[in-house]
Amino acid sequence: MKVLYRGKTKDIHVLEDGSYLLKFKDDVTGENGVFDPGANKVGLSIKGSGKSNIMMTKYFFEILKEKGIPTHYIDANIEEATMTVKPAKLFGNGLEVICRYKAVGSFIRRYGMYAKEGQPLDAFVEFTLKDDERQDPPITEDALHMLGILSTDEYRELKDLTKKIANIIKEELEKKDIELYDIKLEFGRAGENNELVLIDEISGGNMRAYKEGKYVQPLELEKLVLD
Ligand SMILES: Nc1ncnc2c1ncn2[C@@H]1O[C@H](COP(=O)(O)OP(=O)(O)OP(=O)(O)O)[C@@H](O)[C@H]1O
Ligand SMILES: [Mg+2]
Repeated sequence: MKVLYRGKTKDIHVLEDGSYLLKFKDDVTGENGVFDPGANKVGLSIKGSGKSNIMMTKYFFEILKEKGIPTHYIDANIEEATMTVKPAKLFGNGLEVICRYKAVGSFIRRYGMYAKEGQPLDAFVEFTLKDDERQDPPITEDALHMLGILSTDEYRELKDLTKKIANIIKEELEKKDIELYDIKLEFGRAGENNELVLIDEISGGNMRAYKEGKYVQPLELEKLVLD
């Protein structure tokens, strides 16, 4: 098994048949030993976090599969904290698509002059580039098009798919009285037909969720969801 890439929280191995094996590690992102899902550095290691992340990811990818959403998911092994996936071609060096239902985090840091913390947003979608050196900058539709990262059609398709997926996750969380404020997704193209698919993971670190008005930490969220 060849290691293709060592990420901050996962490693990618290539299997004999060409599919990828994502190994979820116990490393989490943060600063100075404090857990921060949005950070661009590994800050600390939390025993069991890899297993917790793969459990939540498996849970949501299987729900999405049932609903006919195209994803990279093939199967998962909880004990090993691994997931087998279809290899995908990324857009540029990787793109993140965020869907926001309530204004928190970087939205407030940027638009705090106009927006109030926790203000409702109507499934607001924005794109950011995966670029740690430049703190994952937001990018507009025009820039994505001009820089040859996405066509106008792809932009629209990604935006629609993001809303659809985010709504499914939101509804699932609502069943447990948890409110989704925002979620970050990644996409690529995979398979013979170069189909647009959801890739990477869906775990506590990809979203901000609140219960009774209080922020739920990622590992706590995973416990609540899988309970
Ligand atoms: N099916 C797939 N095909 C190709 N690459 C994938 C696939 N699924 C996930 N990836 C990529 O695998 C990598 C997993 O690494 P990891 O989650 O540790 O993140 P990272 O690259 O260090 O950065 P970040 O924390 O910003 O996500 C990501 O770069 C992700 O884009
Ligand atoms: Mg990642």
